[in-house]
Amino acid sequence: MTEVSNPSEPVVALVVAAGSGVRLGGAEPKALRLLAGRPLVAWSIEALVAGGVDAVVLVVAAGTADWYGPVVASATVPTVVVLGGATRQESVASGLAAVPGDASIVLVHDAARPLVPASVVAAVVAAVRGGATAVIPVVPVTDSIRRLSATGSVVVDREELRAVQTPQGFRRDVLVRAHAAASGASYTDDATVCEAYGEPVTLVQGSPDALKVTHPLDLAVAEMIVRSRR
Ligand code: C5P
Repeated sequence: MTEVSNPSEPVVALVVAAGSGVRLGGAEPKALRLLAGRPLVAWSIEALVAGGVDAVVLVVAAGTADWYGPVVASATVPTVVVLGGATRQESVASGLAAVPGDASIVLVHDAARPLVPASVVAAVVAAVRGGATAVIPVVPVTDSIRRLSATGSVVVDREELRAVQTPQGFRRDVLVRAHAAASGASYTDDATVCEAYGEPVTLVQGSPDALKVTHPLDLAVAEMIVRSRR
């Protein structure tokens, strides 16, 4: 833990949207697929702002930046668009390079998690403000889980497991140093990058609403969540 931070420190969110989205299908980038008439990424930005984010760096795939004009125009906080890389980790590193100088707290959020509740975003921010250096929202695992091996499989006690969501929250300097140290190694999320760098990871409660839209069924579930909120 570092010292407790100033409550007015600006919070910047990297919204990573540079994936191919092939599992969902469709011609446009996944982040621009419509959910109840609005792009997934617009929902994501709105949730982040409601949870306390002051500015957004939107990381998109090469050749798609122009498509995000309306999303940027409708954002209620300053939003810049930068190009991502071949992996999520490269996309985050690219977004980090564009974070404004005064931001000392950085959130990293999957554009594909449009319905994360503002309360989860706020809990992540509060934990970083409270002194944590790397924060992740988690939810219990509901399926039974088995670990495969060359000789068969063994059950894993799901009570010991948690699924990891976004936004993940960081002291900016820690995330920058961890990403620089990680170049060459490959990680699927940023808390793990920080952990590999020796930082403790703090858990806060996530939400089933923060599901990652990956397959067509996920989009149908997200539509139902929006309807139930109304
Ligand atoms: O591939 P995965 O489902 O883990 O992607 C999670 C998020 O990371 C998505 O929002 C996706 O757009 C983003 N991503 C990225 N750059 C990549 C790969 C994934 O920004 N090269």
